[in-house]
Amino acid sequence: MPDNVDDSTVVIDGETLGNTQYMAYVIQETVGADIFRIEPETPYPTDHDELVDLASEEQSNNARPAIKDTIENFDTYENIFVGYPNWWGDMPMILYSFFDEYDFSGKTIIPFNTHGGSGFSGTISTIKELEPNAEVLDGKSISRNDIQDAEQEIVDWVNSLDLKQAEEQPDSSAEAQQPTMGRFLYLCRFGYE
Ligand SMILES: Cc1cc2nc3c(=O)[nH]c(=O)nc-3n(C[C@H](O)[C@H](O)[C@H](O)COP(=O)(O)O)c2cc1C
Repeated sequence: MPDNVDDSTVVIDGETLGNTQYMAYVIQETVGADIFRIEPETPYPTDHDELVDLASEEQSNNARPAIKDTIENFDTYENIFVGYPNWWGDMPMILYSFFDEYDFSGKTIIPFNTHGGSGFSGTISTIKELEPNAEVLDGKSISRNDIQDAEQEIVDWVNSLDLKQAEEQPDSSAEAQQPTMGRFLYLCRFGYE
C-alpha cells in the first residue's frame, strides 16, 4: 500500500477545491464544457482516515456504490472527460458504477486524474476494458504536489487535443438531442465540504 494517501487541496477565490475538482474546473474553463460531478448516494466521509478505510473496503468487496444523480441527454455528448483521483492504485469504485451505468460506444473518453505518485496506475487499460467500443485517449495525470501550479499545463494539454468548441444549444430544442461535438466533464471529488 502506498504511504501517500494524504490529500492536498487548491483554493480559488476563497473556495477550497479538491485536486481532481480543480483539474476539472480548469478543463471546464478552457473548453466551456458541461460538468457533472460523480457523487455517491451515500456521501463519502469527510474524515480522511474514514475515507481511506471505506475506499479500501469498497475495493476489497468489488463494490458498485450507487451514483446520486443521472446525466441528462447523455447520448448528445461525443467527447467526454472523465476525472478521478487515484485510490489504492485504481479508480474509486464508483467509477466502475459509472462505466456500468453509461454506454460510451462511439464516444471519445478523455481521462484525467490526480495522484500522490502512482499516476494513472492501470486505469487507462481498465477503462478500455470497461468501454471496448469507445475511443480512450491517453489522458492527463497530475501529481497533487504539482496541481497548485498546473493551470497552464492543463490548458496547454486541453488545447493540444484540438477539440472543436461546443455550439450553444437551447436545452429543449430538437438539435439539443442530436449528437454534437459537445463535451461533458465528469468529476469525482469528495471530502472537502
Ligand atoms: C483512499 C485514498 C487512496 C489513495 N491511494 C493512492 C494511491 O494508491 N496512489 C497514489 O498515488 N495516490 C493515492 N491517493 C492520493 C490521491 O490520489 C491524491 O491525493 C489525489 O490528488 C486526491 O484527489 P482529490 O483531491 O480530488 O480527492 C489516495 C488517496 C485516498 C483518499
